[in-house]
Amino acid sequence: MSESGPEMSLVCLTDFQAQAREHLSKSTRDFIEGGADDSVTRDDNIAAFKRIRLRPRYLRDVSEVDTRTTIQGEKVSTPIGIAPTGFHCLVWPDGEMSTARAAQAAGICYITSTVASCSLEDIVTAAPEGLRWFQLYVHPDRQLNKQLIHRVESLGFKALVITLDTPVCGNRRYDIQNQLRRNLTLKDLQSPKKGNSLPYFQMASISTSLCWNDLSWFQSITRLPIILKGILTREDAELAVKHNVQGIIVSNHGGRQLDEVLASIDALTEVVAAVKGKIEVYLDGGVRTGNDVLKALALGAKCIFLGRPILWGLACKGEHGVKEVLNILTKEFHTSMALTGCRSVAEINRHLIQFSRL
Ligand code: FNR
Repeated sequence: MSESGPEMSLVCLTDFQAQAREHLSKSTRDFIEGGADDSVTRDDNIAAFKRIRLRPRYLRDVSEVDTRTTIQGEKVSTPIGIAPTGFHCLVWPDGEMSTARAAQAAGICYITSTVASCSLEDIVTAAPEGLRWFQLYVHPDRQLNKQLIHRVESLGFKALVITLDTPVCGNRRYDIQNQLRRNLTLKDLQSPKKGNSLPYFQMASISTSLCWNDLSWFQSITRLPIILKGILTREDAELAVKHNVQGIIVSNHGGRQLDEVLASIDALTEVVAAVKGKIEVYLDGGVRTGNDVLKALALGAKCIFLGRPILWGLACKGEHGVKEVLNILTKEFHTSMALTGCRSVAEINRHLIQFSRL
């Protein structure tokens, strides 16, 4: 078995990252890996987790460790979910259908992107029992949003995740160099598969004028819980609570939007403090190990979501690759719980955390 060949055994999420490189074209790789501008935040999302140290407790009978929890009242096998990422067909022929099957098999939540490359109907048919939320890029035309929301509601999606951090697209140098937008438009958007979530000519449009006051309109047209993705400050967290949404995803879009904002894990504490337990807070960005999951939960996240690692799994082995990524991370998290003396997710708390002075 060669060390770098396709048979290399993949034992952690970054192994999948290395392996995925071999399967992808330069422009697709750059599209997935890229951050905005200097990629300071993309890299800090990972580094910030590594600055945090753990305080383990022993002699607590960890013969049984239970990773199960709930999000928005729905049971999940582990507090790990799939963050919305677009265009899965770029990395695997079946795209989002494979992702959905893997999520269903793992018993976790899959947030489907507005810019999914499979139709929402095909995704639901591929994994009818899976827990799914729908991520919305708000379109300037309200009627289109309304049609789309009613469609996802009738397809059984359980929450509406509105992404806030993209009033304009971040400056991604590699994509500009690779002329990715033009290629994506040609490949995926100009001849959309029947039933795509939005026709190509509308996909390019994300509302630049969305305001807090517009949230009541969304609440008037749907009964789905509304979760705001991309909050990084206590001020916005307080506004989210005031506007009666049901959840927040602390996120900086994987460092792909505004560069030089706080790492997600560094922003989590102030958001959690601001919501005072009134709504659930989740996190994405830079989660790569079981310890990262544990740290996010200890600092108040109810669940974390994975962006790039899912695409690495998909690029390597399709549905099986995504399943492996989810299994590896869940196993690592299980080990982290046992080694810190946590038998259930409810026992994970702030006392496990020591901020390092490194
Ligand atoms: C994303 N992200 C994203 N977010 C969103 O709300 N809608 C989307 O369609 C996409 N698309 C997308 C594509 C790709 C290739 C990436 C890498 C990211 C952001 C995503 O949901 C999430 O916030 C980050 O990816 C989390 O960081 P990690 O896990 O990639 O470090």
